[in-house]
Amino acid sequence: MSGFVPPPYPYDRLNRLKPITEAHAGGTVDLSIGTPFDPPPARVVEALSSSGTERSYPPSIGTLPFREAAQRWIRRRFDVEVEPSQIGATIGSKEFVATLPQWMQLRTPSRDTVLFPAIAYPSYEMGAILAGCRPVPVRLLPDGRMDLDSIDPADAQRALLLWVNSPGNPTGALDDLDAAARWGRTNAVPVFSDECYVEFTWTGRGRTILESGLDGVVAVHSLSKRSNLAGVRVGFYAGDADLVAYLQEVRKHVGMMVPGPAQAAAVAALDDDEHVELQRSRYRSRLDLLAEVLSQWSEQPVPLPQGAFYLWVPVQDGWEYTERLARDGGALVSPGEFYGVDGARFVRVAVVQPDERIQLVADRLAAAAR
Ligand SMILES: Cc1ncc(COP(=O)(O)O)c(C=O)c1O
Repeated sequence: MSGFVPPPYPYDRLNRLKPITEAHAGGTVDLSIGTPFDPPPARVVEALSSSGTERSYPPSIGTLPFREAAQRWIRRRFDVEVEPSQIGATIGSKEFVATLPQWMQLRTPSRDTVLFPAIAYPSYEMGAILAGCRPVPVRLLPDGRMDLDSIDPADAQRALLLWVNSPGNPTGALDDLDAAARWGRTNAVPVFSDECYVEFTWTGRGRTILESGLDGVVAVHSLSKRSNLAGVRVGFYAGDADLVAYLQEVRKHVGMMVPGPAQAAAVAALDDDEHVELQRSRYRSRLDLLAEVLSQWSEQPVPLPQGAFYLWVPVQDGWEYTERLARDGGALVSPGEFYGVDGARFVRVAVVQPDERIQLVADRLAAAAR
């Protein structure tokens, strides 16, 4: 009898390259995982130690101040009204993504399928697998949007949910959130919209699926990227009253609780937009710099993304390019196959390191080319 064997964690597969990158003077420049490097605002860090919330259990759905801060942010950013009762806290969005299919299947046992973009953050597929559900990737159009017309009606009938991710990881593409909401309503499939990169939208303004109405849709947000708080683990989901109420209740039973100090810090972070502006300008200039550096090194243009903080670089072979960049530049990046088989001829470069580290890669590559 063979049970579930967790597959190798994608980023662990880069470990064999680390002796190569470490051998460079100045060591590895890690551009693989999208983990923020820059600091959160001081006021937010202060809030972590001054909330006085340590001794009691925090409410699983989120404190009212936290959910009201999320409400204010949604109003400010998108001009959409969501009641705090239609908002729930997450311990960062990854746990929400990875556990959602099992709660959705308990709610609708006759369905078993999770739909997600064919090139995507791996946890959409993993959440389906962990729930014993069928992960079904949705083909992407050349511009990176999901080809919703390509979804087999039989899969739609079995679908527990559709994931959409805009701006998308790893491609940075902006999807058509109105079309996703419409598809979900037409097919009676809940649509979950992962919008954790929305503050880093480079083409036009940031959009939420909630702008198309709240019925049948849930937006998923995170403080990790917006406010450099990935280590604090806090995010939220907001939208359809029935879906949110169900998830709030089931997640209470699981003990999904964001620590009180983290919720207090999130209030301070959500109420402040200034630090987000600063972070936007940092990522913007690093994307420009690194795209230029890699274009010169590989002698072909590296496109800039529409959103998020990744370069999605078309290459002949993702692993070969990754190894060459480790050797010549001492940099670690992610082969595109980490995000689905359709990504095999790409690499993803996260521009999370400080400018001087990115400049170090540029200098190494220039020296290697001489
Ligand atoms: C598309 C996407 N969703 C969710 C997450 C999870 O972020 P967190 O759990 O820190 O909120 C990430 C992190 O890289 C991501 O890229």
